[in-house]
Amino acid sequence: MGAPRSSCAFASLLCCLLSVVLAQRVQVANEVTGYLGKAVTLPCTFATNYPEIKVSQVTWVKETGGRKQNVAVYHPDHGPSYPMERGSTRIRFRSASLEDATLIISPLLMTDEGTYTCEFATYPLGNEDGITNLIIVAKPTNTAKALEVKASKVEVPVANCTSANGKPPARITWQSGLNGNSTVSQVLHADGTVTVTSSYNMVPSKEANGQRITCEIAQKTLAQPESIPVTLSILYPPEVTIDGYDDNWYLSRNEANLICSAKGNPMPTEFVWSTTSGPLPKSVSVVGERLIVRNVDASVNTTFICQATNRVGQVSSEQIVFVRDKPSMDGAGTTGGIIGGLIAAIVALAVLATGILICRQQQKNRTDREEDELEGPPAYKPPPPCQLSEETEPVPKLTEAESIPLKTPYFEPSITDDLFGGVIATTMEEAPRYHELPTLEEREAAGEAGAGLEDEYLDQINPIYDALSFTANEDETALTPMATDKAFVMSRAMYV
Ligand SMILES: *[C@@H]1O[C@H](CO)[C@@H](O)[C@H](O)[C@H]1NC(C)=O
Ligand SMILES: *[C@@H]1O[C@H](CO)[C@@H](O)[C@H](O)[C@H]1NC(C)=O
Repeated sequence: MGAPRSSCAFASLLCCLLSVVLAQRVQVANEVTGYLGKAVTLPCTFATNYPEIKVSQVTWVKETGGRKQNVAVYHPDHGPSYPMERGSTRIRFRSASLEDATLIISPLLMTDEGTYTCEFATYPLGNEDGITNLIIVAKPTNTAKALEVKASKVEVPVANCTSANGKPPARITWQSGLNGNSTVSQVLHADGTVTVTSSYNMVPSKEANGQRITCEIAQKTLAQPESIPVTLSILYPPEVTIDGYDDNWYLSRNEANLICSAKGNPMPTEFVWSTTSGPLPKSVSVVGERLIVRNVDASVNTTFICQATNRVGQVSSEQIVFVRDKPSMDGAGTTGGIIGGLIAAIVALAVLATGILICRQQQKNRTDREEDELEGPPAYKPPPPCQLSEETEPVPKLTEAESIPLKTPYFEPSITDDLFGGVIATTMEEAPRYHELPTLEEREAAGEAGAGLEDEYLDQINPIYDALSFTANEDETALTPMATDKAFVMSRAMYV
């Protein structure tokens, strides 16, 4: 008031210097956060290493909205005093002394928020203080729920997420793959806390029923945002179908069923069966969603109706039943017969082809031997005529031990080839040529070229058999050129 400018400037400089010095002696927290309803501690101590400074009194002063109030005072002669709330134990010094002015407030009220100054009355320096900001927060109660709405074309809230009685107010967001948006509303309560509600709005389609969206709440008192999943509940009337009709209901059929399948929200549980011609025939019984016909008769030659009901609506579906005199003939049975017949025919052809080949091979052996006979002294009697049989003919020159293993490797590859590939076609096409093959006399007339061709053909079909016949009769080498002698000798070693 009216002080010269220079002295004012000096005073403010001094003030700044002093505050630097004071900051070192009065130790407080700049900001303290307290939970509503819980205890809070406002620390304030006076540094002990200044014996020349005498403290006579400590005072806490609260300032809210420009109004100052003395909260707590301590004087060593008169003890602690709490002028703001006389008779209350909510506010107190932790341990009243001239060195420690730490204040405890419990339970915290929202009105406790404000700026607190901790003052030490000293001599010779006068008052020294420190300032603390007390911030009150409140942990909200978070909930989320789906709103049961009927399916429609009009955008409505389908879920709500609420963060109640928080301070500061929560921030609510939605995680959703659905095409909707949200609206927020806030209510400020008398105690200073805020309830935030966010609604998720969308066009409620029945497809959205059962879909999950997530509400996320972020707030100062939460270390991380809280996520609450919500499963949407969109009510829609039943969707009904009748299953189980196989279009093969015939007179005196034993058991026939129709099943009423219904979806819906809520799930329909009530099913009523009837027919277009009136009530149900006597021969049917109903168990839940299932219509059971013990014995099919003309009375079920009608159209059945299933009506399903839920809270939202009532929907029916129809099934026309046609009762035949006899079971239907088409279907898998006939197809199976055709396939079976085909397989049987293929197997029969394979067996036939094998038989012809065996016979041809035996014939060839005989022919070879006959040729030997012509060149050398007779070694054996002429063999009996060809037989289409699996029995091994008693072939001279081959011992029993040689002829038995001969059979096994011969049949297996032959049949396998027929079943798994086109070999049978070749065999069947070529087989008749056996009958056209030149006789021994014709071959002699035609020369060795024809015989060579024929042997090559047989070699292709069954080298193993040929290899054995070759070794059984060494002289054949001279008559029939064999390109792969060595391989045949090796295969023979495997079998004998
Ligand atoms: C989002 O909300 C606005 C109104 O605030 C509305 O017009 C719009 O159709 C909504 N969008 C969707 C996808 O629901
Ligand atoms: C069932 O009805 C149809 C006509 O709707 C008829 O042709 C058929 O013969 C009937 N079957 C029996 C077994 O009566």
